[in-house]
Amino acid sequence: MAYDKKQATEEFGRWSESYDRSVLQWLLFGPSHRSLIRRIDAVAGDRPITILDVGCGTGVFASRIRTALPQARVFGVDLVSDMLTRGAHRWRALAEAVHPVQGDSERLPFASGAFDFVTCANSFHHYPNQEQAASEMHRVLKPGGRLLLIDGYRDAPWGWFIYDVCVTYREGNVHHASAKRFREILDRAGFQAVAQKVHRGPAPFLLNEAIAAEPTPLYPAPHFHLRSPASVEHAAEV
Ligand SMILES: C[S@@+](CC[C@H](N)C(=O)[O-])C[C@H]1O[C@@H](n2cnc3c(N)ncnc32)[C@H](O)[C@@H]1O
Repeated sequence: MAYDKKQATEEFGRWSESYDRSVLQWLLFGPSHRSLIRRIDAVAGDRPITILDVGCGTGVFASRIRTALPQARVFGVDLVSDMLTRGAHRWRALAEAVHPVQGDSERLPFASGAFDFVTCANSFHHYPNQEQAASEMHRVLKPGGRLLLIDGYRDAPWGWFIYDVCVTYREGNVHHASAKRFREILDRAGFQAVAQKVHRGPAPFLLNEAIAAEPTPLYPAPHFHLRSPASVEHAAEV
């Protein structure tokens, strides 16, 4: 049976209570967060930026971004309200700059072109429709905005064993995409300049980085050139 959102809601509803104390915090989540923050810092410098973190859980990463990059305004979206509620103390402490929203990665409750960065850490393998989620991430990014997406790296034998055997055994039929499949998904969603980096270690992970392209116009752009107000009138009559 394919993994679905009901399973995700039940799994994270149960896990929310002990989630922040999980061994995965230092084995996988912490290192992946540090890697994302390094990239955002390198790209954005001191510029004010707006970030959407998809699958934000209890807000550990969202609050780390804000602590490391005080010029950032961060929105976190998660399907499971129990996870958001568990992080209430974090959202409260940073209430002026970090905002939790309950919602689904496949239908992000944000306007198009709203964000400079979209991040997604350790969550993508839970999405039953990964192409739709990637397309939503593209939609909410400004043209030229950047996606940083981290998930378990399952292409080498050790990663395959951890993610496709152990994690799948524990979490059900989740799907860790291969590096090739990630490129396909991101290309189809309209991203450009897709780059990938493997982080080795006891829990290897893959960082996918890509730029949101300008949306393709529905009709070809006009090809005439207007030189004077007279020619504007003429063009309007044509
Ligand atoms: C392993 S946790 C990762 C949390 C956080 N990103 C981190 O790195 O600590 C995965 C999160 O994805 C969320 N999630 C699962 N399916 C989702 C969906 N369809 N839309 C949004 N969030 C989802 C879960 O509720 C959970 O909080």
